[in-house]
Amino acid sequence: MTDTNISRRTFLAASAASGLAGFAPFASALAASGNDWGDDWGGAFAAALGRNRMLLGWKTPPDRLDTGSLAVTGAWPAGLKGRFFRNGPSVHDRFGRRCRHWFDGDGMIQEFVIDGGRIAHRGRVVRTPKLDREDAAGRRLYSGYATHLESQAPIRGPDSMNAANISVLHHGGELLALWEGGSATRLDEATLAASGFKAWSPQLAGVPFSAHPKADPDGTLWNIGCALLPRPALVLYHIDRAGRLVKAGLVDAGPMGLIHDFVVTHKSLVILIHPFLFDPARAEQAGILDAHIWKPRAETRVLVVDKADFGKRRWHALPACFGFHYGNGWEEADGTIRLDHCLAGNPGIVTETLRYVMKGEFRPSAPLRYSRIVLPPKGDGRIENRADEAEFAKVAPAAVGRRHRFVYTLGVPDDPEDWRFRTVVKRDLERGTAESFDYGPGRIPEEHLFVPGPGGRGEDDGWLIGTVLDWKKGVTGLSAFDARDVAAGPVAQAWLPYPLPLGFHGAFVGG
Ligand SMILES: [Fe+2]
Repeated sequence: MTDTNISRRTFLAASAASGLAGFAPFASALAASGNDWGDDWGGAFAAALGRNRMLLGWKTPPDRLDTGSLAVTGAWPAGLKGRFFRNGPSVHDRFGRRCRHWFDGDGMIQEFVIDGGRIAHRGRVVRTPKLDREDAAGRRLYSGYATHLESQAPIRGPDSMNAANISVLHHGGELLALWEGGSATRLDEATLAASGFKAWSPQLAGVPFSAHPKADPDGTLWNIGCALLPRPALVLYHIDRAGRLVKAGLVDAGPMGLIHDFVVTHKSLVILIHPFLFDPARAEQAGILDAHIWKPRAETRVLVVDKADFGKRRWHALPACFGFHYGNGWEEADGTIRLDHCLAGNPGIVTETLRYVMKGEFRPSAPLRYSRIVLPPKGDGRIENRADEAEFAKVAPAAVGRRHRFVYTLGVPDDPEDWRFRTVVKRDLERGTAESFDYGPGRIPEEHLFVPGPGGRGEDDGWLIGTVLDWKKGVTGLSAFDARDVAAGPVAQAWLPYPLPLGFHGAFVGG
């Protein structure tokens, strides 16, 4: 079923099916005892934080943060003006209870306004309907991805549980906070206040809209949505430059789990379905994450959908692997697709590391490695190499869907500490080389975005901008790199007088 042939009924099914909505039939009332949280993760985290300040990145900040003018070191690039937004889980503790997974904290938007070297910051928790209802009730009402309440408030759709905590999108004149289990949340640009959910069409109200939309060089936007119940389904979106829906489609992709990211080429949408598969029958008791089952002997299935006709599809198989993010991909004249993926041998990072860090424990897991995947026009694909550890891969906006030379990631130094990512890496895929800057002990960088310079045409003709937590000093900084010389380190940094919680993704809006 594709394009305009989608019935409202079908989409409502998809809407109700978004992973988190699957609890609805089982969630008739809130537990009177409220004792279904078991042992004290909040107390364990506080004690661990006292021993290890690295955990500052997972501490709940105040709901509002404001600094009128940051202390700047170095020479902030004159052309790097605009607003830099970030989002991530932040409200980890509320009503005496701490989330059981990094992915479950309610979102908080961080905004850096950069104007001629003067940089101001404000942070605002995204006031979703979920958060408003919980604050009114004075208790947690809803389960999350891995924070499971055995009984919870009635759920009317995915957005009952929408935490708006993964990314930020500025498109068609709107600023949106993105989640992946439900709708995008509108934000007022003047105040950062949440102003309701975005519906791309009346039929798409409440339908999942994932947190990694891809903007083609022509400015149009592609995205997926991932629904898990009553049966797995993928939603496909094409949105024009003005933010109007061009078309949407629904794909029955068979067994799958939550799909976080995807790839666009100039012709196709490429969606990997790792064999970490959701079992609806488990969700009632286990919650979303623990209803996923890792099947190491199963294939990673790859769906390739024609942008021009969502009905034209091909499938490939890859060895079992797991990952969140892609660098970029492109398609050759014969249909061969090449794409870059930060992939691990199993999903331990999500089932172990990113769960137990909320309790103050560091549990190692299989590393994410920068890898090239090749999909021939027909037949099985292959993973060509597994290089060094990498996450949060970004390319120049003009390279999206085209063959890229440079990709920017976080990386791991030779002497990694508990939290491994500490470097910013520029990879030259043509030469097979990489250069990096090590922030040094005591610092944890977050995603760094490439911002093209004024009139810049090259894939490194611009800047990298990103935040870094200095947990020894207890502050967060904003860095600007000349993308042509990443190894030289930031050309300028601006420091907040407080730490920000570690987050996921951001957006830069020039001007
Ligand atoms: Fe992501």
